Amino acid sequence: METITHMLSLRVALIKPALALVASLMLLLIPAAATADPGDVQTAWRLLDYMAVDYGGAVANGAVTSASEYAEMTEFAAGVSTRLRALPATPERQSLIQRASQLQGVIARKGSAQQVAALAYGLAADLLKAYPVPLAPDKTPDISTAGAVFRQSCASCHGMTGNGHGPDAAKLDPPPIAFTDAERARQRSVFALYQVISQGIDGTAMQSFVDLSSDQRWALAFRSGSFASTDAQAVEGERLWKSDASLRARIPDLKTLVALTPAALAGSIGQVKADAVLAYLRRHPDQVMQQAPSPLAVARAKLAQSLAAFQRGDRRAAKELALSAYLDGFEPIEPTLSARDPNLMSRIEGAMGESRRCGEQHVSR
Ligand code: HEC
Repeated sequence: METITHMLSLRVALIKPALALVASLMLLLIPAAATADPGDVQTAWRLLDYMAVDYGGAVANGAVTSASEYAEMTEFAAGVSTRLRALPATPERQSLIQRASQLQGVIARKGSAQQVAALAYGLAADLLKAYPVPLAPDKTPDISTAGAVFRQSCASCHGMTGNGHGPDAAKLDPPPIAFTDAERARQRSVFALYQVISQGIDGTAMQSFVDLSSDQRWALAFRSGSFASTDAQAVEGERLWKSDASLRARIPDLKTLVALTPAALAGSIGQVKADAVLAYLRRHPDQVMQQAPSPLAVARAKLAQSLAAFQRGDRRAAKELALSAYLDGFEPIEPTLSARDPNLMSRIEGAMGESRRCGEQHVSR
């Protein structure tokens, strides 16, 4: 199967006339991926991303510095292995499984944070290449810093205004993408941009920016996806968004927003409106989140569902729901909570870990 990266390089060679073709090829990839449970792929990917960032808080210089964080890293690495084994067989699966057990080994030996991050990020990227499924940020990315990061790390090639004519652009083949190209931008979802920023494109000057936090990469993806629209369009988009409840129902959460291309939205509301609404929401993704339930409400609801599943004897579901309560509900507010009340934060973290293990002990399969 062609990987997304290969498809991107292919598109570079053929440029515009082939854009539509590649867009439809990408669509073709989706049914192939649908045979994998997208939930398994997404959860494995998020666990890996989380480990890459947080392992440094569990181990330093070969010794455990936080027993609870370390228990979590061990649990999550095992969770990745289990999920990979459950995926439908592809030529890549075996090597993914091998690398997951390598990761478990490094964590068991209390290897360095750099080792874990490199393995986890590499595995996460290749997992998505083998099983492409859409992903969404855990929380609203902080767009406010993206402009500065873009100027510092991207403008040399893509240009300050995203027009593709940065000072280093002339010597590059293929040249940097012009984010201001409206036709092209209409075909791009924020998720697709995020993937390129995270993985880079083989054989081009576009390197992977996986050293940036996933929050920063999402913010940059929103920024890159905003250059083709004007502030005036965003103002019109805000008016539409605030006055039209059916529009708000159409884009209920971040996952929908990042997967949406202006071209796809145009199919239901017309190009002019679609461009305007996405001009607004890509500048203000927090607007989408304002209508979503708060993370703590998500955590409570998932824990209640987990308990209900446990009581009816479905322990696998109970465990998955307890993990989802943690990843979807608790994790997004963890940084805020640990700043305000670190003791409470570690008590909750510990208790949620216990609730997940409670399901585990009873699962003999
Ligand atoms: C050294 C030059 C260089 C730098 C620095 C660079 N890029 Fe790129 N970027 C490229 C090139 C070249 C391509 C086009 C590759 C191709 O045509 O496949 C590209 C493509 C992309 C794409 C794909 C766009 C699309 O529509 O497919 C995105 C997104 C992107 N870059 C974002 C960024 C971001 C964000 C940064 C900064 C964090 C950045 N780039 C820094 C050279 C660069």
